[in-house]
Amino acid sequence: MSLTQIAIDTLAKNDRGGFTIPTAGLYPYQWNWDSAFIALGIATYDMDRAWAEVTSLLEGQWPDGMIPSIIFRSDDPDYFPGPSRWGKTPGPIPSTGVSQPPVLTTAVMQLTGTGSNRDTARRAEVFDQLFAYHKWFHDNRTAKGIVATVHPWETGRDNCPEWNIGLDLMQVAPDLAPYTRMDNKHVDASFRPTQEQYDKYLTIIQFGQSVGWDQRRLTEEGPFLMADPNIHFILLRADKDLLAMARDLGKSADVVAAIEGWIAKGEAASDFLWSEELGAFTARDIRTGAFSKGFSNCSPLCFYADTGTPEQRARILENLQRIASKVDYMLPSWDPDADEFEPQRYWCGPVWPQMNFMVAQGLAETGEDTLAQLIRDDLCRAIEKSGFWECFNPLTGEGCVGKNFSWTAAVWLSWQHETKLKGVA
Ligand code: GLC
Repeated sequence: MSLTQIAIDTLAKNDRGGFTIPTAGLYPYQWNWDSAFIALGIATYDMDRAWAEVTSLLEGQWPDGMIPSIIFRSDDPDYFPGPSRWGKTPGPIPSTGVSQPPVLTTAVMQLTGTGSNRDTARRAEVFDQLFAYHKWFHDNRTAKGIVATVHPWETGRDNCPEWNIGLDLMQVAPDLAPYTRMDNKHVDASFRPTQEQYDKYLTIIQFGQSVGWDQRRLTEEGPFLMADPNIHFILLRADKDLLAMARDLGKSADVVAAIEGWIAKGEAASDFLWSEELGAFTARDIRTGAFSKGFSNCSPLCFYADTGTPEQRARILENLQRIASKVDYMLPSWDPDADEFEPQRYWCGPVWPQMNFMVAQGLAETGEDTLAQLIRDDLCRAIEKSGFWECFNPLTGEGCVGKNFSWTAAVWLSWQHETKLKGVA
């Protein structure tokens, strides 16, 4: 069977009726940014079903505009922390109390096409909800002029070493309710976050619950507050896409001005993440100002967000060339020359399909075609070697953590489709 057919079958097996889970067992619910990539993959063969992925995610939106990281339409005893651990949340469906990188708007922009064939009806259908989601980030997560984050899980990069500077400043809550991890029952512990990290993740959840998931209080008073290049660049790109959508739909001057304000704020904030020492955009602790100590796979998302000075971009490209000479498969999630690089441990080294997708897209859009192609080809080689895993060891191309993974299948389909279209053109 062809890999393309296996990818389609993988998505069909993970379909739970209008929404798609990342993988059975380990991740049995709908995840926010996963659904955006999944929709793009499904769109290559079934646009209506792809659109359902978007609207089902929007069903979980809170009254304040937040789209949570996970929507719990059931309570699966095999998953932790599930709905009972997050407690009562204000949304229409039980959920987590934090969000994820808001790639949804950019996915909607891509799903609804360009030129005279674009689907303005579908854009109009979701615009207000997308606007409310972006507004939620800008109103509730801004600290020191940048959209920050309160939980490593909100960044989508759970245990990236970037978070250690913020986690090291935290204490585990002395009254942390006892719990049993389930992730290590599904996959080997050496792939997963450590126990101390897990205790801290749950400490933040306990704090969120204690303030009734008041999101401003979580940002201002919570135990963890860092700025994340992943959220920053993805939101900035999404704000630009939202602006294009607003203009296209003839939205009011107030709406357009609000989005323009967010973009101006985002452009100005990129410098906050710039580490001159590393020549990279890195995470930063908001309260102490400390920079993290490594180049991650979201450092080059400045291209995707179309931001950064020519000098900054040149240094990012130099770093990418250096890293390409150290690994067999681009792009590792953590710098192989930095402390705490572990090629098989989740966000401490492995290659992540959805990150390669966005980084390659940004590089291609700004004319860096050779690097863009390398980043695409390397992921495709890893998939050809090992199959549709959640992530891959950058030294060997072996699959890590979850098998039969939806976003990996979706990225494969998106790229195959694009290549086919180019061949036709
Ligand atoms: C892990 C990843 C996160 C993803 C989720 C479901 O928690 O770190 O980015 O959304 O799995 O695939």
